[in-house]
Amino acid sequence: MTEQQFDPHRPSTTETGVPRQSDEYSLSVGANGPLLLHDVELVQKLARFDRERVPERSPHAKGSGAFGELEITEDISAYTYAKFLQKGTKTPMLARFSTVAGELGSPDTWRDVRGFSLKFYTEDGNFDMVGNNTPIFFMRDPIKFPDFIHSQKRTADSGLRSANMQWDFWTLSPESAHQVSYLMGDRGLPRSWRHMNGYSSHTYMLVNAEGKKTWVKWHFISEQGVENMTNEEAERLAGSDGDYHRRDLFDAIQRGEYPSWSVEMQFMPYEDAKDYRFNPFDLTKVWPQKDYPRHKVGRFTLNRNPENFFAQIEQAAFAPANMVPGTGLSPDKMLLGRVFSYPDAQRHRIGTNYNQLPVNAPVVPMNSYDKEGFMQYHHSGSAAPYAPNSYRSYVSKEESRVDNGWEADGELVRAAYTLHAEDDDFGQAHTLVREVYDDAARERLVNTVAGMMADVEEPVLSRVFWYWKSIDQEVGEAIEKKAKEHRGDDVPGA
Ligand code: HEM
Repeated sequence: MTEQQFDPHRPSTTETGVPRQSDEYSLSVGANGPLLLHDVELVQKLARFDRERVPERSPHAKGSGAFGELEITEDISAYTYAKFLQKGTKTPMLARFSTVAGELGSPDTWRDVRGFSLKFYTEDGNFDMVGNNTPIFFMRDPIKFPDFIHSQKRTADSGLRSANMQWDFWTLSPESAHQVSYLMGDRGLPRSWRHMNGYSSHTYMLVNAEGKKTWVKWHFISEQGVENMTNEEAERLAGSDGDYHRRDLFDAIQRGEYPSWSVEMQFMPYEDAKDYRFNPFDLTKVWPQKDYPRHKVGRFTLNRNPENFFAQIEQAAFAPANMVPGTGLSPDKMLLGRVFSYPDAQRHRIGTNYNQLPVNAPVVPMNSYDKEGFMQYHHSGSAAPYAPNSYRSYVSKEESRVDNGWEADGELVRAAYTLHAEDDDFGQAHTLVREVYDDAARERLVNTVAGMMADVEEPVLSRVFWYWKSIDQEVGEAIEKKAKEHRGDDVPGA
């Protein structure tokens, strides 16, 4: 969106383009007299100001982003026929990074997962990848997501954030262990958005020209390197520069230091999913790279700042529902829940016709029969607004198996996923804490968790110790000891 309506050579005008008499003085009865309702200039200005805000995003309210370009450098046509994923193709894009729980004005450096949203304006319409800086998530069923977010935001009575509430939810949802181990580790405090990786987290599908399907996980590896900050730095910055990450990205691009990410993929043959040792659609699990290595497929670079934060970042609408031919979803229940939730949130947050805004509009024509609603802008003239009709060419009539679908059959139930051989809640969390983190990182994790226990009450406190001992006995014991020391509770054997 580069269109600018402001003309510095014209006098200031009302919204209907009429020159204003004054930007400084309201119309009054005498210099000291009452104001008048028919002062169109004042009334319009105040009424318009009263409506300046749209609701903030429910999660991921605080963030920012930039425009750039994706370039595919490898031939992955064996996996997908998506036009924008063919070797040599360059696609314009928008990225937005965010924290999850904080509100619009909250500090960028609070410990949190970071959102990693990408929108690609492809020749086949928009493709969005709405991921995070972690390869997994806190739960595996979307019915728990609103409760999770409530537990991370603010209490109903005081409006304060509460470690008790967070740990209550997490420890009663042990499937969160893997993600919580990430969050309490060093990656919970990225140095900047430029210095973090992004992940699709979910398993998605790719489909090639012959209709062959492959499961895929996307990775976006920072070419600046991964760097994090300490609790002390993060706390200091939260007080002195709440917009630290937003500023860092904007200033870097302004200086011509364009951040870039290597785009990499793990491919899993379609048939492997049935009896892979972990359920490949369980969002709390990674696919270890020794089973499915990462392959570089291209890179993206961010090289243009927004010209208007509200129009291009605040009103941007990213959605896992935005898929293009040659790509697809997967049976991950979280992903299927998200496919509904984002466009629904955006119809409410921005308005029914949010896809007509320049930042969200595809670069190809929208040949849709959707019509009217608040702020309808584009129209198709006298063309028939219904299908089927005798006048327009774009009536889609396919009756076939969808090329990016999968088999599903069975009774309607409310149930957990059936378990694969090595599925459990704590195994991969243990691997992360014991095999990926070194001694120093484990010690920082212990200090971070123990430091959060000051106001945590029973029975949550005991459950926190059980939760961490289930992840790793030694780490759990260290957390218990340190937390009790901080709290002044009796430490057995101390
Ligand atoms: C069932 C689970 C989930 C639901 C119902 C959900 C719902 C939402 C909603 C309603 C928004 C605000 C959208 C808007 O107003 O534009 C949002 C934002 C976001 N969500 Fe989720 N979410 C879920 C899980 C996830 C997961 C697993 C990830 C990452 C893998 C994720 C990443 C994001 C990001 C990055 C944003 C910010 C988008 C932006 O930059 O505008 N969410 N989510």
